[in-house]
Amino acid sequence: MGRTHSNAARRVNNFFDLEYQPVLKAVCDLDAARAQAFAAQWGYESCETDWRKLIARQDIDMVDITVPNDLHREVAVAAAKAGKVILCEKPLARTGPEALKMVQAVERAGVPNFVSYNYRRIPAVTLAKQLIDEGRLGRIFHYRAKFLQDWTISKDLPQGGPALWRLDAKVAGSGVTGDLLAHCIDTALWLNGDLEQVNAMAETFIKQRKHTVSGKVEKVGIDDACAFLARFKNGSLATFESTRFARGHKALYTFEINGEHASLFWDLHDLHRLQYFDHRDAGRVRGWRSIHVTDGDHPYMGKWWVPGLQIGYEHSFVHQLADFLQGLATGKSARPTFRDALQTQYVCDAVLKSAKTRRWEKVPKVK
Ligand SMILES: NC(=O)c1ccc[n+]([C@@H]2O[C@H](COP(=O)([O-])OP(=O)(O)OC[C@H]3O[C@@H](n4cnc5c(N)ncnc54)[C@H](O)[C@@H]3O)[C@@H](O)[C@H]2O)c1
Repeated sequence: MGRTHSNAARRVNNFFDLEYQPVLKAVCDLDAARAQAFAAQWGYESCETDWRKLIARQDIDMVDITVPNDLHREVAVAAAKAGKVILCEKPLARTGPEALKMVQAVERAGVPNFVSYNYRRIPAVTLAKQLIDEGRLGRIFHYRAKFLQDWTISKDLPQGGPALWRLDAKVAGSGVTGDLLAHCIDTALWLNGDLEQVNAMAETFIKQRKHTVSGKVEKVGIDDACAFLARFKNGSLATFESTRFARGHKALYTFEINGEHASLFWDLHDLHRLQYFDHRDAGRVRGWRSIHVTDGDHPYMGKWWVPGLQIGYEHSFVHQLADFLQGLATGKSARPTFRDALQTQYVCDAVLKSAKTRRWEKVPKVK
């Protein structure tokens, strides 16, 4: 994520007219050689190997957190105390209580804050939000989301350490729930409102893996797969599914929403398209429309190329940074803030709890 965020910081003012311009002052990584190589490649002025030193620097106004999940809270709380503007990768934290401490820290310090649920800012997803808010779908009946991968099927894959911290529950917090379902949940809350109750099942298919740091075979604490049923406050029913064991799928994030008048479908593999079916169309020409979201009046697209030319994944990070900087200039926070992301965390916690209790669990509402 360090690369996607750095790319966004370098590009954003080329394409968006903004009052603020990010200056790449310093990059921090534990390994000095890696930090230096990264700084040279992406144009940072300096490097640090201790994030505390980075935060203590007077020439740093904004801290962008792209470290593994177990460090989010410590870094964010320290950055808030130092009065820095904060961008944080998702999930906000490993658990709801940990995320709550981060919300309290940024709100106490009064520092602008934002969480990188970047899929909101893929133009086709933003268009879906606009169509829903215009009431085109009418009453919503169903929400269906999936996020499928296949990269942890091998039992020989170790857990822990660089690149594999996602398999270590102590570092990641959870498996697919905090990593992948968190994205699906953030999008769902944004598009369709609050989730009230969940009923989940989760599985750890490979129960023991060698730990890269200890060198020993250790119990695996993450969920390899998780699926849940849910009820939204607006009365609609939902199914969510995520796994790292769906052979053949690398990052298949899809959602479908069925309303009284119309339905929407989006697929990350075809991210510049939004599928739209409107029952109010004349019968003879009624059918699923595949909207190529590349025209000047589509969200964000007027800032890029001529109509018909598409953009990709990395642009969602440019868009979120543009909105965040715009928010700083206008005093109107871009969303999701830490407080918004806390609600996603509460849903994740309720999902994991339900997978254990095998009961419906209520989702606490962020006040
Ligand atoms: N928005 C998205 O779609 C998305 C996608 C991938 C990852 N993420 C999130 O981004 C974060 C990072 O994920 P990643 O895939 O980039 O991980 P990664 O393992 O590729 O990178 C993490 C980096 O943090 C560095 N690091 C670890 N401990 C450190 C410390 N104490 N001080 C300084 N640097 C340290 C590592 O050296 C590494 O360079 C996670 O929270 C993850 O959930 C979000």
